[in-house]
Amino acid sequence: MSEADERVEEMLDAAREAMERGSYAPYSNFNVGAAVLADGEVFAGANVENASYPMSVCAERNAVAAAVIAGKRSIDAVAVVSRASDPTPPCGGCRQVLNEFGPQMLVTVESAGGKRESWTLPEILPHAFGPSDLR
Ligand code: THU
Repeated sequence: MSEADERVEEMLDAAREAMERGSYAPYSNFNVGAAVLADGEVFAGANVENASYPMSVCAERNAVAAAVIAGKRSIDAVAVVSRASDPTPPCGGCRQVLNEFGPQMLVTVESAGGKRESWTLPEILPHAFGPSDLR
């Protein structure tokens, strides 16, 4: 297995663990885990819902926050897992947040049954608005 493939497996494992341990989704019952790779380190997150539904935060955004809080500013890849029968792609809002720290990142998604898909972020967020548009 190539080193890049090993990193993807590591991220998927971290995302699964975060989903099992940390996902709080009593309203949707849709548990999600995510992990990002930054400077060779993996940071995980899970979705955390709220009784005030719009305050809920997706797994990807919590994983990005963990990396940023640790001082990382450049993300190379993200992995997302759920218990759905089809892999869960990052929602539109999360694509925007991912773009801030890794406009070329690799996105890998996996379903409970192990169905996998992957894209680059520009493939699923074409013509993104990002930091350079503010200059
Ligand atoms: N969710 C994520 O965590 N990531 C996504 O990209 C899709 C949706 C969460 C939000 C909410 O807690 C639940 O899944 C159902 O939408």
